Amino acid sequence: MQAQTSIIAHRGSSFTAPENTVAAAKLAWEQNADAVELDIYLSKDNRVVVMHDSNTKRTTGQSNPISETSSEVLRTLDAGSWKNDQYKGENIPFLEEMIATVPSNKKMVIEIKCGIEVLPALQQVVNSCGKKDQLVFIAFGWETILAAKQLFPSNACYWLSSSATEVSAKMSEAAQKGLDGINLNYKIIDQETVTKAKELGLEVLSWTIDDPEEAKRLIQLGVTGITTNRPDLIRQSIQ
Ligand code: G3P
Ligand code: CA
Repeated sequence: MQAQTSIIAHRGSSFTAPENTVAAAKLAWEQNADAVELDIYLSKDNRVVVMHDSNTKRTTGQSNPISETSSEVLRTLDAGSWKNDQYKGENIPFLEEMIATVPSNKKMVIEIKCGIEVLPALQQVVNSCGKKDQLVFIAFGWETILAAKQLFPSNACYWLSSSATEVSAKMSEAAQKGLDGINLNYKIIDQETVTKAKELGLEVLSWTIDDPEEAKRLIQLGVTGITTNRPDLIRQSIQ
């Protein structure tokens, strides 16, 4: 990410638009987000699809485990109406469709929600998208993010955690293994954590912050990314 604090739209501009859809990504760009974050899984037919949950039930009303469902079926589902009727017909995107929306000076933060089984298909998408240098990878899975860094050594890769104990135990190893930083639940971020990370050469990103006062606290601590459902509100409040 960049030295100045980046505003990262969480699942797109997901306070207003349906999360993890092309509409949510486009709205985030209109609202001048620096990056869009999204979540990926591998479908039964080895396509990289964008969704937060491993099952489509919450955002489409139809229960389908993604790993057991073909993209042909996934693409028939309506992932927009649950949020607002105006988004009826928004489908579950392929990763490449989301990447295609990224403007030239912006980034896409790709959270690998499943395991390393997605990496071969992900590599194909990344290598053919024409925007490889605008992609950033994040994952809670330790082995998953290390494998992503090995596969994409020139792309920034951040390990996700919401456990202060876990972060304290693994921060040095994250640096040794060549990760670019840690991406933490904002509730566990304090000055000690940021200082230690910086000493190790690690950036600190944060999620998910919709409160302007909390965003200001984190910026003062020195985080380099604020992940928010409301990029418009956070942008205005920190200007
Ligand atoms: O950006 C990281 C954040 O998205 C992790 O939590 O559950 O929203 O994927 P979750
Ligand atoms: Ca996520």
